[in-house]
Amino acid sequence: MPSIVVIGSVNLDIVASVTRLPVAGETVTGAKLRRYPGGKGANQALAARRLGADVRLVARVGDDAAADEALALLREGGVDLDECRRIEGAETGLAFIAVAPSGENQIIVAPGANRMLTPDDVQAVAADALICQLEVPLPVIVEAAEAFSGFFGVNLAPAAEIDVRVLQRADLVVVNETESDWYGASLRACAGLVATTRGAGIATLEQDGQVIAEAEPPGIQAVDTTGAGDTFTAALALALVEGRAPREALRFACVAGSLAAMARGAQPSLPNRASVLKRM
Ligand code: RIB
Repeated sequence: MPSIVVIGSVNLDIVASVTRLPVAGETVTGAKLRRYPGGKGANQALAARRLGADVRLVARVGDDAAADEALALLREGGVDLDECRRIEGAETGLAFIAVAPSGENQIIVAPGANRMLTPDDVQAVAADALICQLEVPLPVIVEAAEAFSGFFGVNLAPAAEIDVRVLQRADLVVVNETESDWYGASLRACAGLVATTRGAGIATLEQDGQVIAEAEPPGIQAVDTTGAGDTFTAALALALVEGRAPREALRFACVAGSLAAMARGAQPSLPNRASVLKRM
């Protein structure tokens, strides 16, 4: 079983199911409210665990009740939380998510304790693979990337300023279409693979600017796409570390990501390995 360390965020997701997403300045009423564990780091950690990895999450939460809710499924799923510490007086990260009937969403994050992770917290990481996202401070990612010697994957989400050292060090960079446009030519600094997701459209894997693999996600009825990108990232990193060929790894990730969009909530919907293999 490959070992994976995820350095990233833990949030409690407050999810409003709405008949349609509001435009700027608009009020949409009649929402149904639900709460789910979330956060890109936590979602990717649990996804990797359910897909068959031995996973440790390095993160920070507050000393509030939201922390227990946010960590519940990680704990139940067997993710190692020894490096997921509570910060006295801090608030656990919260994400406010609107989800439309099409499964599309809008997300606003109040990072709280996620901002309190420091470079000193990530110097002694040892595993087959390390996965990061951009919901924790950038210096943490830079330090982790430079200190770690195994397979390093980074999901450049949400789109934010990035340090070129992270791109140069990454064995795998994952972006969605919007993020790909946002980063533009700067992604050319990536020395490793660049995976781009396009919702229900064809996902690609590139090396040195050349497409080396393509995969079409299976047709599904999307209910809530929250966590689909996180699942794709974890699945692709895991499949590559397991030694699968790029095309097969991309297909595995597309199927896993699609399955995650078929149920509500980021973490309740994360698929296990058997369901992905069956769908493949
Ligand atoms: O990628 C989905 C995640 O983004 C949600 O769970 C939310 O917490 C935000 O971090």
